Amino acid sequence: MPRKQEQFDVLILGSGAAGLGLALQLDSSLRVCVISKNSLEESSTYYAQGGISAVLNQEDSAESHAQDTIQTGGGLCHEDTVRYAVSEGPTAIEWLIEQGVEFTRENGYELHLTREGGHSHRRVVHSADTTGKAVADTLVNAARQAFNITLMPHNIAIDLITASKIGRKYHRCLGAYVLDIRNHSISTLAAKAVVLATGGANKVYAYTSNPDGSTGDGIAMAWRAGCRIANMEFIQFHPTCLYHPEAKSFLITEALRGEGALLRLPDGKRFMSKFDERAELAPRDVVARAIDHEMKRIGAECLYLDISHKSAGFIETCFPNVYARCKHFGFDLAREPIPIVPAAHYTCGGIMTDRHGETDLRSLYAIGEVACTGLHGANRMASNSLLECLVFARAASRHINENIHGVELVTELSAWDESRVTDSDEEVVVSHNWSELRHFMWDYVGIVRTDKRLERAHRRAELLLLEIDEYYSNFRITSDLLELRNLSTCASLIIRCAQQRKESRGLHYTLDYPEPHEDKEPVDTVLVPSNFALASMGLSGSGC
Ligand code: FAD
Ligand code: SIN
Repeated sequence: MPRKQEQFDVLILGSGAAGLGLALQLDSSLRVCVISKNSLEESSTYYAQGGISAVLNQEDSAESHAQDTIQTGGGLCHEDTVRYAVSEGPTAIEWLIEQGVEFTRENGYELHLTREGGHSHRRVVHSADTTGKAVADTLVNAARQAFNITLMPHNIAIDLITASKIGRKYHRCLGAYVLDIRNHSISTLAAKAVVLATGGANKVYAYTSNPDGSTGDGIAMAWRAGCRIANMEFIQFHPTCLYHPEAKSFLITEALRGEGALLRLPDGKRFMSKFDERAELAPRDVVARAIDHEMKRIGAECLYLDISHKSAGFIETCFPNVYARCKHFGFDLAREPIPIVPAAHYTCGGIMTDRHGETDLRSLYAIGEVACTGLHGANRMASNSLLECLVFARAASRHINENIHGVELVTELSAWDESRVTDSDEEVVVSHNWSELRHFMWDYVGIVRTDKRLERAHRRAELLLLEIDEYYSNFRITSDLLELRNLSTCASLIIRCAQQRKESRGLHYTLDYPEPHEDKEPVDTVLVPSNFALASMGLSGSGC
């Protein structure tokens, strides 16, 4: 069912910390639309536990935060981006407090700072162990009250509309097609600037800490529109998710280890100091690989996390959410070690952007987990993600506020055409391919890789892409089909990046090249789409 065309100054795809952070910092004279494929709250942001890193303590320094980030990033962090992000951290926290986010305080006054892997100081601001919920609820509330922001939940972006698609001689993003999931109507949304804030692609793995919506839609849309994608091989696996058939890889925050929790084998022995002198507080790549190694060595289905040496009062006060959730599944954190396994958690790579969140395609921005800014390099340090969302939301909002007024709003966009497709008679194809994709990615492109496994995954991914493209051309779209198509594009991008990196570095570990190249300067893996030359014409900056 086609719907009308709507027009805005700024169209934001995604209502997590990045999308809403940006929406709320745009000039209130701009007509802004935020679309989200679920409820406005449902996002990775909502489920964030540990907190947000920022230098807020006299004994800490921006230089120390930068050095920890760079060291964790395995030689690939862009140092200017790191220094910029950490220097903006305190302002980001101040802004959240102004919006009304209530962080945990010591004695009801000073912000309480917790600690996580890779950080050499306590610098993680948090709201007990439900930081994401505190941030998401506050930002959604603020957006609901803003008279210039139109909110469209349960609407999924299908694809970006570019100028070349409507026959113009220049290349620019002009809007997006959007499917209302509740009534299957498709709108054409035109805007002067479009922002991708659609989060990561971690649902490409069978086991993930992420909510169902993390299907890499923004990355796939940007790739189709001609933007370069970088560093997709660096998928972060969180070391500690609850091992229980019904827990859906529920995350057990790293802040538990920050506050003293220990990792144990099934016989109760500790093992982390064999792998790194920082033991449980080593960065995530080290801890996840150590757990994977020990599980394979002894043939265990899970290992254990133990904080039972702390008082029940301490645990229930600091980690009320984790405590309650574990209790729900029959585990008492205060009395016993709990079973854990690693799961896919964070996409370090993504759409290449500059300091303002601008992509290769004019008028298209990307911020938050969807982007590759150079902050995380080959491995993200804990709690640097929400920091990145907020810092780049602010940077992009500033850039849009300053530059949007001379930009033309192009309104003659063609409507979505469904005249040549029919309803699918074989939806099982979608669910079957979805499951096959996620399982071969887990088996062949997981924590430990080899050339042979990557080649197997590559063959399967390319075949799936063909099948899904054919299905997409013949049948009426559904949100499941759109997500599957995007996931399979992201799987292919992850595999291609992993195949290009002939070394182990950060989160990419391969048995065929177990060491990093020491003799060459480390470089990002950059994938260039076939329509890139066209997209990059937009970078010349000539007004159109
Ligand atoms: P998200 O918060 O994922 O939001 C994406 C938005 O885009 C959603 O609104 C979604 O509905 C929408 N969307 C996606 N595709 C489409 C489409 N096609 N059309 C329309 N809308 C679309 N990081 C930290 O720094 N600290 C932590 O403590 C922390 N804990 C975490 C705990 C968990 C369990 C998880 C999963 C992640 C955690 N992270 C943490 C990572 C961090 O939460 C995310 O990286 C960050 O929230 C991403 O924010 P975002 O705004 O980029 O994307
Ligand atoms: C956690 O709380 O362990 C997650 C923190 C993060 O992903 O940064």
